[in-house]
Amino acid sequence: MKLRSTSLGNVHAFLFAALRTVSCAALLALYGLSLASAQTAKAPAPGKTPAKTENQLSSPAVEAKVRALLAKMTLEEKIGQLVQYSAGAATGPTSGRTDDKDMIRKGQIGSLFNVTGARATNELQHIAVDESRLRIPLIFGLDVIHGFRTTFPLNLGLAATWDPEIVRKASRIAALEASAAGVRWTFSPMVDIARDARWGRISEGSGEDPFLGSAMADAYVRGYQGEKLEAPDSVVACAKHYVGYGAAEGGRDYNSTEISEHSLREYYLPPFHAAEKAGAGTFMSAFNALNGIPASANPFTIKQILKKEWGFEGFVVSDWTSVSEVMAHGIALDGATAARKALLAGVDMDMQSNLYHQNLLKLVQSGKVPQAAIDDAVRRILRVKFAMGLFAHPYTEENLEASAMLRPESRAAAKAAATKSIVLLRNEAVSGAPLLPLSANVSSLALIGPLADDASNMIGSWGALGRGQDAVTLRLALTQKLGESRVHYAKGGEILTASEGDISAAVSAAQNSDTAILALGEDAPSMTGEAAARAQLGLPGRQQELLEKVAATGKPLVLVLFTGRPLTLPWAFEHVPAVLAAWYPGVEAGNALTDLLFGEAAPSGHLPLSWPRSVGQEPLYYNQLNTGRPASDPDHPAEKGEAKYVSRYIDEKNTPQFPFGFGLTYTSFRYGATSASAKEIPVSALRQALQEKGRKVVTVSSEITNTGSRAGETMAQLYVRLDGTSIAMPVRMLKGFQPVMLAPSETRKLTFDVDAEKFAFWGAENRSGVEPAHVTLWIAPSSAEGQSTTLDITER
Ligand code: NOJ
Repeated sequence: MKLRSTSLGNVHAFLFAALRTVSCAALLALYGLSLASAQTAKAPAPGKTPAKTENQLSSPAVEAKVRALLAKMTLEEKIGQLVQYSAGAATGPTSGRTDDKDMIRKGQIGSLFNVTGARATNELQHIAVDESRLRIPLIFGLDVIHGFRTTFPLNLGLAATWDPEIVRKASRIAALEASAAGVRWTFSPMVDIARDARWGRISEGSGEDPFLGSAMADAYVRGYQGEKLEAPDSVVACAKHYVGYGAAEGGRDYNSTEISEHSLREYYLPPFHAAEKAGAGTFMSAFNALNGIPASANPFTIKQILKKEWGFEGFVVSDWTSVSEVMAHGIALDGATAARKALLAGVDMDMQSNLYHQNLLKLVQSGKVPQAAIDDAVRRILRVKFAMGLFAHPYTEENLEASAMLRPESRAAAKAAATKSIVLLRNEAVSGAPLLPLSANVSSLALIGPLADDASNMIGSWGALGRGQDAVTLRLALTQKLGESRVHYAKGGEILTASEGDISAAVSAAQNSDTAILALGEDAPSMTGEAAARAQLGLPGRQQELLEKVAATGKPLVLVLFTGRPLTLPWAFEHVPAVLAAWYPGVEAGNALTDLLFGEAAPSGHLPLSWPRSVGQEPLYYNQLNTGRPASDPDHPAEKGEAKYVSRYIDEKNTPQFPFGFGLTYTSFRYGATSASAKEIPVSALRQALQEKGRKVVTVSSEITNTGSRAGETMAQLYVRLDGTSIAMPVRMLKGFQPVMLAPSETRKLTFDVDAEKFAFWGAENRSGVEPAHVTLWIAPSSAEGQSTTLDITER
């Protein structure tokens, strides 16, 4: 039951042919605490299976069909269902097999991925359904990560909306498009909690917080799978990478992780559990070793927690060759042992390793793998195939495919999502007023930078079928708005290289304009996503020099950052008056940005992670423990502070550049005192309330005022701290969030109804529950602000 650990062995890095991405939508009303609270229920006591509300994979009808089919299958045919290959572009080491079609005919493959298009998938499906003995359809998978053809902001940007409804709509649109192209299974959502911006895949998830991450996980799954899994336009979700992948040591991709059971349960597992509770049909086991046991051969996390405790009824697919990587991790000397360990740990489908196909038959015949283990895996895969209606409608309507793509309403949703994903980090006064929004009467604008007119980068690192040519760049949108003559474009060099001439042309463009906009950042395919860890987090190439030289012209400067992670840019955050974190906004990038730059829309994105000042601060996250020697002034490095022997750097502040939850807009807000409706709650009352899901135990409120002259939205965040507990808990934990739109000078009392779950945690006795504690509560615009109140959970 205890987790193990060891350092990672030889994990091969593979060349990752970057695909491209998708999606999203409008906003909704309040995302209240009651909905949010449903996302983060703590793990139930071992053995207890929580009830699922919808998208049940298993029903008496489905189980009867599974049983009947299983009874007809030979052992070879059963093993065939557990085998998956890429039939298209390789996104990892290849299997070396070219006989996919023959294998389908023989019933030796259960799933193919990286093949798209109604015609291509139908052709392969016909082989499975018409030519294999038992006519079991294939399930076609693909990485549909932030859109299929309509590219939405990359996932970190989607998380920055703090709007699960946007994520749900983006995923729904992605599902409509993908299913029209024969893809009924996506390897998404990635729900890995990530605290280290060096890790390239921080771009693919929802950031560092389990509460926000759980809300997003739920939204992705509901969006992909729709109301009914059996609908032809629903796409089965895959929560990945199970589990701990985001904690890769040093931020180096595929690296090992050491996570205590408490941290696993409190931080890393909740978004997976939220995905499972939302009905996710599949999970993907991760590449990393978790406390010495490869995640793809880890019976504790897969068999015990996922399948037994949570009652997961779907199937687990390995990540790309992660079954064979069990050998490189060092716990198997040969492929047969790797296959046995992975299968017995609960990995039902082998992505690309070829090891289940090669070894399982002999392993069963020799008694090393029980037939029951094979049956369980097959049952899970068939269950998903039946539940999604694949047997009833295995083919895709070829004549509906084209019209499903990039519809005007999908583009509109992508624009709404992009607009909400962009975070205004800085907006200092220039000539007495904040630089943004710009006036549409500006006589000329210099538009500078390698990302100002790079359409394919707007798509991000996972593009599915997204195309650069569909994307609107900032240059295109600005030119459409202001006309050619008012936009002085100078590329200023490439992302990684620039000549003196490139830089001086950019400086001249700025000198000849009223204001300059710089579009700088990372190259999405090569610097973000998988196998794109960075040890330096500055601007690549000569972009910092370009920035400083353009700034030296003295022109008002707006910096738009296109990145898959926060960059450490202390100079920019001191000298550039306006900075926007745009991530990679998708097909509507330029239009969304132009609306924000000129105030036709107001920024409303908030950081889903802590933005570091220096690489040396990583891993950096707001929900840290207090330590025994907290710095009383964490905003100063040691030489400026009072005491030496406290937890801080001698050469850097402890605080982030921008805290989790932070985001400016074009007005300002005042948060009043936080108050709670109770001063004491007996622990027995909380325990009782835990049985009644969602029952309010205390109301927490604050008055919020719009102190500016524009209407605007703030994201009110509820934070909780527990002291006096059996195990140390973080200095703050997000437990709710609500967007609040206020007219100029308007004040509104905002209330969070808090249920008992918000006080529950995985305690020192290795179970979830509530304990007597001193509680601090904040309603705040970020994790570093707000006025607190307290209450006590008393013994009794
Ligand atoms: C490897 C990646 O880790 C995973 O996220 C992806 O789904 C698979 N390759 C399939 O492309």
